[in-house]
Amino acid sequence: MRGITKSFAGNSVLAGVSLRAAAGEVHALVGENGAGKSTLMKVLAGVHRPEGGEILIEGRPVHFTSPADALAHGVAMIYQELSLAPHLTVAENIFLGREPLRFRPLGVVAKRELNERAGRLLEDYGFRIDPRAVVGRLSAAARQLVEIARATAEARRVVVMDEPTSSLTAHEAEDLFRLIRDLKGRGLAVVYISHRLEELGEVADRLTVLRDGREVYEGAWGELSQGEIIRHMAGRELKDIFPPRAAQRGAALLRVEGLTRKGKFEDVTFEARAGEVVGLAGLAGAGRTELVEAVFGAQPFDGGAVYLNGAKFNAPDPARAVGRGLGLLTEDRKRTGLCPDQTLARNLTLANVGALVKRWVLSRGREREAAREYVERLRVRPPDPERVAGRLSGGNQQKVLLGRWLFAGSRVFLLDEPTRGVDVAARAEIYRAVNRLAEGGVAVVMVSSDLPELLGMADRILVMRRGRLVAELDAKRTTQEEVLTYATLEEEFEIRNDE
Ligand SMILES: Nc1ncnc2c1ncn2[C@@H]1O[C@H](COP(=O)(O)OP(=O)(O)OP(=O)(O)O)[C@@H](O)[C@H]1O
Ligand SMILES: [Mg+2]
Repeated sequence: MRGITKSFAGNSVLAGVSLRAAAGEVHALVGENGAGKSTLMKVLAGVHRPEGGEILIEGRPVHFTSPADALAHGVAMIYQELSLAPHLTVAENIFLGREPLRFRPLGVVAKRELNERAGRLLEDYGFRIDPRAVVGRLSAAARQLVEIARATAEARRVVVMDEPTSSLTAHEAEDLFRLIRDLKGRGLAVVYISHRLEELGEVADRLTVLRDGREVYEGAWGELSQGEIIRHMAGRELKDIFPPRAAQRGAALLRVEGLTRKGKFEDVTFEARAGEVVGLAGLAGAGRTELVEAVFGAQPFDGGAVYLNGAKFNAPDPARAVGRGLGLLTEDRKRTGLCPDQTLARNLTLANVGALVKRWVLSRGREREAAREYVERLRVRPPDPERVAGRLSGGNQQKVLLGRWLFAGSRVFLLDEPTRGVDVAARAEIYRAVNRLAEGGVAVVMVSSDLPELLGMADRILVMRRGRLVAELDAKRTTQEEVLTYATLEEEFEIRNDE
């Protein structure tokens, strides 16, 4: 790609970006949220038409008018926001538009052949997914694997992966890396977008850094240290990703006692004190999301109780949980958090509209004012409260959701994977915001699969395995290895030190 320019409604997003991906090479594309990574790749995949610049495939200029057109030239993309048809099966999604036909002229799809071929493909990739399953019923991780299988099955020259691991476990990510090495071996060019630099280190050969729609660095992977990459992305030095916190531990604001939901989590007991950040570690499927959603009243439970400030409060629904000072930042912002068609200001103030009412009327001025404050505090980009939330980049959407609970004045924050898909600089902002909350006497429970994040942010780390709490560790003294050991241990013995 040479000198690609692109703007949306007069706002320039790409200002002459070039990117070269060679056969048999993994090209890492990094940059802060909103830098233009997805947009650049959607230009390559035929989703967006560029205003200027050119795309060359094997030296020949091409003009893609649609994703199908790009695909015909061997270019496929795994989108950041998944793009599968929920009502179709896994096999149907993988071969959508390219179904094997039994009687070609009649256009009859050979179902059995379809399932067999999809099954073989998934098996080859090491993905344990039934080709006959309906996609809408799959977990986020399984859907992501199907998306990966679909795009890589189609790609002949270039495959773009836009944050392909955002809902995968470490184990599934390993399968993906193996697949990527295989694609490399077959001579494909892979463009890989991720905010996790450790992960890129596993696969990347070259690196391009984008900042504000410009390319600020291009070179071999490994030439720059992590700190230097971050400096190129953010345009400044970023010293304390995990800023120190000066919080005093106070009373137990949240106490969860013997909470049980059959098949999901069992007999979970813990507390979170004012000023404390409690980390919740575990593998995907360990029951962490179900647990925090149950505390928030968004999912049922069968036994046990929740206490807020010492008083029993089993939240009957999220609305009443919010009324009692609970806030939940969900892991799946598209499905359960963001209202994509509403403005950023509306999304920010949604959980506390009462604060905006003046003499029975919703004050738009107050809404804008409040939104501006949080946009500023969380560095939402672009800093425009009137922007439609669905049009923001992924990480900026996450910041808006966090801002919502800040504005709602929650006393107990349940954060489920709060920095997934968030760039390093913005992540540091979120950590700072969490620290300020703790310093202000809020109790924070943070579910995260990012172990450096848990070690850097939490006071105590609770480890869940198969629905049970199996360890409580002092974050200052434990290691990633220790946390992982408890999270993956197969033996059924319990280690809890309740102090
Ligand atoms: N369809 C669209 N309409 C209007 N603006 C858009 C659209 N798509 C993207 N933008 C804007 O273009 C800019 C770049 O967005 P893009 O999604 O390419 O960022 P990104 O680098 O992929 O970020 P992230 O790391 O958060 O995924 C952002 O300011 C975004 O708001
Ligand atoms: Mg993106």
